[in-house]
Amino acid sequence: MLEDLIKEFKEIFKYDGEVETFFSPGRVNLIGEHTDYNGGFVFPCALDFGTYAIVKKREDKTFRMYSKNFKSLGTIEFDLDNLVYNKRDNWVNYPKGVVKTFLDRSYKIDSGFDVLFYGNIPNGAGLSSSASIEVLTAVILKDLFKLDVDMVEMVKMCQVAENKFIGVNSGIMDQFAVGMGKKDHAILLDCNTLKFEYVPVKLKNMSIVIANTNKKRGLADSKYNERRSSCEEAVKVLNDNGVNIKYLGELTVAEFDKVKYFITDEEQLKRATHAVSENERAKVAVEFLKKDDIAEFGRLMNQSHISLRDDYEVTGIELDSLVEAAWEEEGTVGSRMTGAGFGGCTVSIVENDHVENFIKNVGKKYKEKTGLRATFYIANIGDGAGRYVK
Ligand code: GLA
Repeated sequence: MLEDLIKEFKEIFKYDGEVETFFSPGRVNLIGEHTDYNGGFVFPCALDFGTYAIVKKREDKTFRMYSKNFKSLGTIEFDLDNLVYNKRDNWVNYPKGVVKTFLDRSYKIDSGFDVLFYGNIPNGAGLSSSASIEVLTAVILKDLFKLDVDMVEMVKMCQVAENKFIGVNSGIMDQFAVGMGKKDHAILLDCNTLKFEYVPVKLKNMSIVIANTNKKRGLADSKYNERRSSCEEAVKVLNDNGVNIKYLGELTVAEFDKVKYFITDEEQLKRATHAVSENERAKVAVEFLKKDDIAEFGRLMNQSHISLRDDYEVTGIELDSLVEAAWEEEGTVGSRMTGAGFGGCTVSIVENDHVENFIKNVGKKYKEKTGLRATFYIANIGDGAGRYVK
């Protein structure tokens, strides 16, 4: 495939010399959802599919970008001296925002580059296609301009690009998983301190199955920002009553139970209840995984979904139908929505002997209930972004 991409790059950019090749994965979060911006724990892993880039540095200040996933948009150009968000530039705003953030931090980038991107992560499916292209851009910049910057710093800059340039108030989980991923491991990340630990994911006779609702996400970004504000409001109410925290993630469930009566707004209370309980669940779940108790890990995945459905209210008929159908299947160890919600994907742990029936039966029930066709992927856990050689 790489050879084909290089060939296409050379045709599009009419260039016939050496090129550089890079890869950046997508991610799936196993547990700890909507906890990152609440200063809590997440437990994502990088996937073995993602975004590829074929690159050639230029001598002038022009960037020319082409995506095989958006062929009809053709090649989109921008200039190093004019890094502003432009709706017409569509997906190119992601890499552009990253270049801008690097420059704002005084990293020396003095020319543009030509790039062909190709991603095999379904767009808008909640598997972080945007974080993938952001971190990919960061890795390209570091390499081409020989920048002295480490991956965690790049991850943080990519989050800034997403927050400030794109305008989505997301936490740090996606960029961190994409940048710092490690083959066959998930990352237990404390989003408050950014301390992290790689935990081996040894599923023996089981697989991680991702199911895409194929529901277009619509108003997801504004609903995401609403959830975030509710949690911030809850923190404010608690602080006004002497609790003194920066994030909900600082409270255990027991501590929260003692002070939650201060939160009189019912919706805020539900949102905060999820944030606190999910954070604790993530920590407990990882302890079970370390002890090879996948059954308990799976049970907590199910609890996570229920909390996201009832307290955080970010699931909807599509995600609920997929998860409920998964729970009914023999061989399902755990199943939950993953990512921001409101559409996107579910993640399930399924015994290998049952994967075929799982896909068949869950797909059938989902179709009957929603009229939509789900897509299934067996996920392998891969490494984070970097140069690609194969
Ligand atoms: C999106 C955001 C992440 C995180 C998840 C929910 O993927 O980009 O920062 O908040 O939703 O866990």
